[in-house]
Amino acid sequence: MDSFSVREAVLTDAQGISEVLWDIAAAGKRNKRCDVDFAREHYLADPDRIRCSVAFQEEQVLGFQSLKWAVENNPYGAPVGWGVIGTHIRPSAARRGVGRALFRATLLAARENGLPAIDATISATNAEGLAYYSAMGFVDYREHEGAQCKSFSVI
Ligand SMILES: CC(C)(COP(=O)(O)OP(=O)(O)OC[C@H]1O[C@@H](n2cnc3c(N)ncnc32)[C@H](O)[C@@H]1OP(=O)(O)O)[C@@H](O)C(=O)NCCC(=O)NCCS
Repeated sequence: MDSFSVREAVLTDAQGISEVLWDIAAAGKRNKRCDVDFAREHYLADPDRIRCSVAFQEEQVLGFQSLKWAVENNPYGAPVGWGVIGTHIRPSAARRGVGRALFRATLLAARENGLPAIDATISATNAEGLAYYSAMGFVDYREHEGAQCKSFSVI
């Protein structure tokens, strides 16, 4: 995609992140919370946050990727000490390399923080999500409550 940039997210990105989530929901690809408070609490101010990166173009957030620590009793059932990843791109910006660029930033953060591996837990019916993570080098390693879990070895 022509001239988008990636940087670490800041608290004031909550509005832009929320808009990305609403766009994904409007496309029928999300049924969870999209509000600004959720964006702030779940991605930006979460104490388990390692890195949240945003891709933007002309001040508009095109998408973001979250990397958090897998802590005890994490909702994904991921091994404690791994990272857990989430990726959300506006449908209007999809398939233009935004997700690929975000993963470069996430991988740097994973290495800086000494993560052994990253878990991606994706709905088993989310074909594009599964294809994206496979393209980034993630491989299937378990299933969790109807979701497919893929892992990426950082080391
Ligand atoms: C899945 C998602 C993150 C992909 O992001 P993206 O910015 O479109 O991905 P990229 O353009 O960087 O694509 C990288 C590679 O992933 C694969 N890929 C991405 N979208 C794909 C799709 N719809 N179908 C098949 N392969 C796909 C391709 O191999 C692609 O490389 P290529 O375009 O050179 O063939 C994005 O579509 C999205 O946010 N979807 C809604 C939310 C979601 O499902 N998130 C994932 C679960 S948390």
